[in-house]
Amino acid sequence: MMPSADLPDVLQAIQLATRSHQQQHACNAHTFEDGAGLWQLVQQHQPRHMLELGSGLGYTACLMALASPQGQVLTLEGDPEHAALARQQIAALGLQQRVQLHEGSFATVMQALQLPAGSQDLVFFDGNMPPLILVQHFHTLLAPGGLLVCANIDLNGPLGARRVRAELADAQRWQLLPPLESGLTRVARRLPALSP
Ligand SMILES: C[S@@+](CC[C@H](N)C(=O)[O-])C[C@H]1O[C@@H](n2cnc3c(N)ncnc32)[C@H](O)[C@@H]1O
Ligand SMILES: [Zn+2]
Repeated sequence: MMPSADLPDVLQAIQLATRSHQQQHACNAHTFEDGAGLWQLVQQHQPRHMLELGSGLGYTACLMALASPQGQVLTLEGDPEHAALARQQIAALGLQQRVQLHEGSFATVMQALQLPAGSQDLVFFDGNMPPLILVQHFHTLLAPGGLLVCANIDLNGPLGARRVRAELADAQRWQLLPPLESGLTRVARRLPALSP
């Protein structure tokens, strides 16, 4: 488990609540284990428009909002119980104006939101293993220079995410930055499109 000693106490409390929920619910609300690394990354880049897939109970959405005080976070969650608990946490921190939770499957909500190309400064994927088509879509959604933080690539072993790894290794589209979570979470900067 990564240390998260630098985080505000309110965030550590949400993380503890998420761990306890995950054990009781025996569900997939595994909380992100490198909050300190994500905090540092967001603080350093101060993204204005952030998109998160996988709210859980709201820990990382609140973390990103607090680390980038001018920023807006759109966070997506498909489990109604997680969504309700995340909304409570967001409200308890008074972040409702800057953190909007959309409930539903990633595919349905992304389709409904129709976010414009180049509109996001940071995308954090923290659902189950990311599908290639989604990672390619993140490239479109990110502004040039924007950051993709992609967890759970290794969930299904080395073969499972082979094509996602190949996508992120495309040096004409992405610049890999130091990872988070001891290498489990990739961080990639979206490069500008090459001129024809
Ligand atoms: C790893 S947890 C997120 C943890 C959270 N980011 C944190 O650090 O506490 C993943 C969450 O994504 C949700 N999820 C997974 N796949 C989904 C999908 N296809 N559509 C919507 N939600 C999904 C799960 O219900 C779960 O709450
Ligand atoms: Zn749960």
